[in-house]
Amino acid sequence: MPEYDDPYARSGQYLDMMIAGWWDHHRAALTQALGDLPADSGPVVDAGAGGGHGTRLIAETLPGARVLAVEPSLPLRTVLLSRVADAPGLRDRVTVDGDDLLSAHLPDRIGGMVMANLLGHFSPHERDRLWEDLAPRLAPGAFVLLNLAAPLRPQRIERTRMSEVGLGERSYVGWAAAEPSGPEQVNWHMTYEVHEGDRVLSRDDVHYDWWTVTEDALRAETSPHRLRVLPHGPAEAGLYKLLPEA
Ligand SMILES: C[S@@+](CC[C@H](N)C(=O)[O-])C[C@H]1O[C@@H](n2cnc3c(N)ncnc32)[C@H](O)[C@@H]1O
Repeated sequence: MPEYDDPYARSGQYLDMMIAGWWDHHRAALTQALGDLPADSGPVVDAGAGGGHGTRLIAETLPGARVLAVEPSLPLRTVLLSRVADAPGLRDRVTVDGDDLLSAHLPDRIGGMVMANLLGHFSPHERDRLWEDLAPRLAPGAFVLLNLAAPLRPQRIERTRMSEVGLGERSYVGWAAAEPSGPEQVNWHMTYEVHEGDRVLSRDDVHYDWWTVTEDALRAETSPHRLRVLPHGPAEAGLYKLLPEA
């Protein structure tokens, strides 16, 4: 099996604290959707769990559920393991798996799956494999909860400050810009800076490719797998449930 090429090898140290705002901002809509999952029908999978904001929210929202958190990035999995180990409410219920989702051994029955800020890492062919694999595993009442992150089509995004977090004497600033890199792809250019007063102490530049997906494309690619697409919550959240067709 090829070694996992981690797009978060450098940025994983910053991602968890910088993505916390997304979870805070959409917490109500996410909690409402998670509350609709069956709590006792197999583990809820947090796919590409990162540092575990979603894992923790699943566990809080569904106190009876087990969670399988799949996270292939070493720095992010380190955050995730520490978050789970530190929380008595998570230690007994959360299993952490370090596989790539495409090669992970998922249980035959799952109580749902969360794919937060993840889908763009998969090509159309990989997504087809995923839907094929996932659809038969969903327990009655279970669904996939995912978001379609902007841009939904390839376009240029001017460099934008996406996050700033203060810790002690320092602040951590994340910048994002994107360029179209194919008919369904953009290349993100992220910059992570550490500031102290007027000085920039360090700067990490990271590039990675991201597949763009529209709602129509999601419908077209999931319907052959008998999954239907249901928008959830405010449109700006870009949240969708993928439910088995009745
Ligand atoms: C933008 S981060 C989002 C993390 C987390 N879901 C959140 O929203 O806080 C994308 C995550 O997807 C993971 N990822 C990327 N490719 C993956 C793959 N093939 N299988 C599983 N996870 C993957 C990354 O390691 C990273 O943790």
